[in-house]
Formats: sequence, structure tokens, C-alpha cells
Amino acid sequence: MAWKLRKGDRLVVASHNPGKVREIRDLLAPFHVDAVSAAELDLPEPEETGATFIANAGLKARAAAEASGLPALADDSGLEVAVLGGAPGIYSARWAGAGKDFSIAMERVEKDLGEKGAAVQDARGANFTCALALASPNGACDTFEGKVFGTLVWPPRGDKGFGYDPIFLPRGGALTFGEMEPEEKHAQSHRARAFELFVKACLEE
Ligand code: IMP
Repeated sequence: MAWKLRKGDRLVVASHNPGKVREIRDLLAPFHVDAVSAAELDLPEPEETGATFIANAGLKARAAAEASGLPALADDSGLEVAVLGGAPGIYSARWAGAGKDFSIAMERVEKDLGEKGAAVQDARGANFTCALALASPNGACDTFEGKVFGTLVWPPRGDKGFGYDPIFLPRGGALTFGEMEPEEKHAQSHRARAFELFVKACLEE
């Protein structure tokens, strides 16, 4: 069973991705947890050697908890494109290259979709997945997963999000994640869904 975080507890957000840290801080805000990022503590980024989002989230959370002596919350997430067999998946960040240029990653997705002949919206189905892991300094670790389904548009639209947000149109919506205000994305995102499970299991009322 998951152990609980209490109001005022210090928590490391074990990510060096500013977009993710911002969203996780927004989601944590109502719970009055004292969140500090891995970058602020100058923690090293472990290599993501896991084969799944859950494995990589666990590995990042455990590494940050061990290095800081604090509970740590890690996020491993990515875009899965149905006709590409789930790619880029756990390699979503790596498709952007060392320069973390997501216009390159989005162009690669579009090129691969073109090679599959995926022109109509129905053939361009995709989802985001987010795995969250909460690790305690004593080695306990709980994990949670959330998904959001939609289709991919081209060209990219909007500059409000991060990563692949400008090409992701959630099912039934008119705006891409890149065009939405943060609150609208938080109402339906993979991260918010995983976060809801984390809150139920790990945050004291
Ligand atoms: P990682 O979890 O550090 O391996 O990186 C996941 C990558 O997936 C991010 O760098 C983003 O490119 C992508 N990603 C994850 N969540 C989102 C999201 O909410 N919007 C857009 N891209 C995302």
C-alpha cells in the first residue's frame, strides 16, 4: 500500500524538463507540499534504461530520493502513435536530439506518418501516456499511469505547451494541447489523470 505525503512535506520533483516541472507544480499547488525540482538541487539525471514508462519513472524517482534523502516524484511520459507501433513512446525525448528541438521530433513523426500513408485524421490516432512514481528515501516506490487519446494534426498549432503538444488534438476537441490554456490541458491530460491516482493513494487529506 502507498505511504502518504503530508501538508508541508518537502518533495523533489525528479525532472529536468521545465515543461513537466511547471505542470507538476501546478497540479501540486492545492496540496501545500513544498516542491523543489531536481535541477534546483543539482541532482544528476539518471540514464533511462527501462523498457516501459513505469520502469523509467521508478528509476528516476528512486535515484532522486536516494541522492536527496527526500521523497521524490518522477514523471516518465511520451507520445505513442498507433500506426507507428507506439513510437516514439519511451524514446519521445530522444527523438528531439541533443538540442531538445521538438520541431525536429514532430517533423519525424509527420514524415513517418506520411510513409505509412496516414493522411486522413482517422489514420492518425495517438495517445500520450504518463507514468508517475513516488519513491521514499528508504526505497519504497509506488507508480501510477494515465493516458489521453486523440489524433495528430499538421502543421503544428500553438505555443502554449511543450514537447509534442502543438500536434496533439485530444479526442472531441477543437484545440491542440499547444493552443490550450494550462487549466484546460490539466482537465484532461495524461499527466493530470496519473496525478489523480497519485493524489488518491499518496496525499493525506
Ligand atoms: P521523458 O519522460 O523525460 O523521457 O520525456 C518525455 C517526452 O515526451 C517529453 O520530453 C516530451 O517530448 C514528451 N511529452 C511528455 N508529456 C508531454 C506533454 O504533456 N506534452 C507534450 N509532450 C509531452
